Amino acid sequence: MCGIFGVITNQEDISIGKIALEAIKRLEYRGYDSCGIVTNYNGELFIKKDSGKIDEIHKRLKLDDFPEGSKIALAHTRWATHGAPTKINSHPHLDCSNKIAVVHNGIIENFMELRNELRAKGHIFQSETDTEIIPHLIEEFMSTGLDLKTAILESVRKCTGAYGIVVCHTDYPDCIIVVRKESPLVVGIDNGATYCASDIPAFLPLTRQCYILDDDEMAILRPGGAKFFDVKTNDEVSKNLIQIDWNIDAAEKGGYPHFMLKEIHEEPDALRRTLKVPEEDIKAFAEAILSADNIYITAAGTSFYASLAGKFIITKFLGKYLQAIECSEFKTQLSNALPDNSAIIAISQSGETVDTIEAIRWAKNAANVKILSITNIVGSSMTRYSDHVIVTRAGPEIGVAATKTYVTQVLILALIGLKIATMKGVESEDEINEYCRALRKTPDIIENFLSKDIDLIQNIVKNLEKSHNFFFLARGISIATAKEGGLKLKEIACRFIEGYSAAHAKHGPISLVRDGFPIIFIAPPDGTYERLIGNVMEFKARGGKIISLVVEEDKKVTDLSDVTIRIDQPANKYYNLLSPITFIPALQLLAYYYSVAVGLDPDKPQNLAKTVTVH
Ligand code: F6R
Repeated sequence: MCGIFGVITNQEDISIGKIALEAIKRLEYRGYDSCGIVTNYNGELFIKKDSGKIDEIHKRLKLDDFPEGSKIALAHTRWATHGAPTKINSHPHLDCSNKIAVVHNGIIENFMELRNELRAKGHIFQSETDTEIIPHLIEEFMSTGLDLKTAILESVRKCTGAYGIVVCHTDYPDCIIVVRKESPLVVGIDNGATYCASDIPAFLPLTRQCYILDDDEMAILRPGGAKFFDVKTNDEVSKNLIQIDWNIDAAEKGGYPHFMLKEIHEEPDALRRTLKVPEEDIKAFAEAILSADNIYITAAGTSFYASLAGKFIITKFLGKYLQAIECSEFKTQLSNALPDNSAIIAISQSGETVDTIEAIRWAKNAANVKILSITNIVGSSMTRYSDHVIVTRAGPEIGVAATKTYVTQVLILALIGLKIATMKGVESEDEINEYCRALRKTPDIIENFLSKDIDLIQNIVKNLEKSHNFFFLARGISIATAKEGGLKLKEIACRFIEGYSAAHAKHGPISLVRDGFPIIFIAPPDGTYERLIGNVMEFKARGGKIISLVVEEDKKVTDLSDVTIRIDQPANKYYNLLSPITFIPALQLLAYYYSVAVGLDPDKPQNLAKTVTVH
């Protein structure tokens, strides 16, 4: 999510500001909304930070200009999670005495209660961030006589959540201290200089030798060396120095050839983080939906297909039909027909899609409605027109094709559906617990699939390379998966696909089927399964090549298929309802490998932009 960098050096004739500035420039690819640098020199902290692009901030503030002789710098690119992207919320954050500076990547989940405790002890906070509690906690522990290292250990032991943090203190000019839990941190070693960063590209031109911190490890960095400790026991730990032989391009992609592949592999963690979205936020959506007379759901592209899956889940528990309307059609179709007391769920990864924003702006003026937005970007334009906002925690998505954001959007909609079921009492507590258990398992199911089924997908692609037209067919909730899986192949492999209802396909599309025409059936064993078998037979009888996406123990669709892609998840209703999350990575991978096989760049589909700001 955020990018962090730190350096401590005894090298002569260097500009610490220039090193830090160039390092955060190399982290730009991750996406960010603000940045900042602090140096620790002569008992004082020197800070420059603001929101906006690094180059613009550099023009205004001269980010490479710090007192000559500074040998310590921390730097940060922020991707807002708590608090809008403003100067005050940018990192670094300081304690009350301006002696301790901290940059942080991750989320401190219990920051509100810690902030209340610290406020009660007289600490003054400047920002809305979760990060700012860290320097104040350290300050508080040091006021009891603890040294910097022990105070940091005690502080992180009080924090729940994920963090990669870097700390410097004006009274400790010979070290910087870093700690990691769940957010990545690497330490680079050079002659007379030591670096730390959230990922390797930040220091790759400076050194290729590094240590990778594990969870619950701390490192004390001094020029040219580092010592490592276990946060729980305080014991020193020894670590292996690793030689990096990637080039900068490969390093930015975490060793993957493309961002899209990296982002598909990030889905399990993106889901785990999104499962931790505060319960009050989910509840606020559920309450607004329950008290509305009419509920609409609107979005574009992949976000619209997430809304098709979500509509199905929420309708099931709400007992009332949710209308999904593409954002560009919203105003046209509902002109003079949008009733008061409606709730509109708007979904947009970027929060900047102009048609989605126009739909909710129009709706707000046209009737008395509540706007409930789901986005991946804190402070994005969409949030300004919203009564309630939920931010998915997918992290920056660089590949143009949406992947990890899709699964997190469906996950949020499923959480809202389950909250509605609980509040309405339409499912027993045991049933809700079973759905929640299945939801919490989705990251593991995807992780398991990604760890073993890549060869199978690559083989399928090899056999399909010459095909130019495809059907993606399904029934029920899986129509969303068919449409989204098909969209991926369309946009990045430039194949023509029709993502359609398997039942409806016999009313026209089936006339296209000839020998060897590839048809991908999405077939979880839910209430539509038996009828889908009939559809598979119709297409097989006409010579279609049947590729099916099924659960591990599937038999009937398997027997009719030329190839199956198997998802190892229980064959029951809890997991079936969540199959839009667990089945989609297989189709994303299929599109990815197909795109590579036909010589296209999956990260840069032709004619497409990551954010569409034109009507
Ligand atoms: C497809 C894709 C697009 C977006 C669409 C909406 O892979 O990325 O279809 O989903 O442009 O974008 P957001 O979600 O930012 O509103």
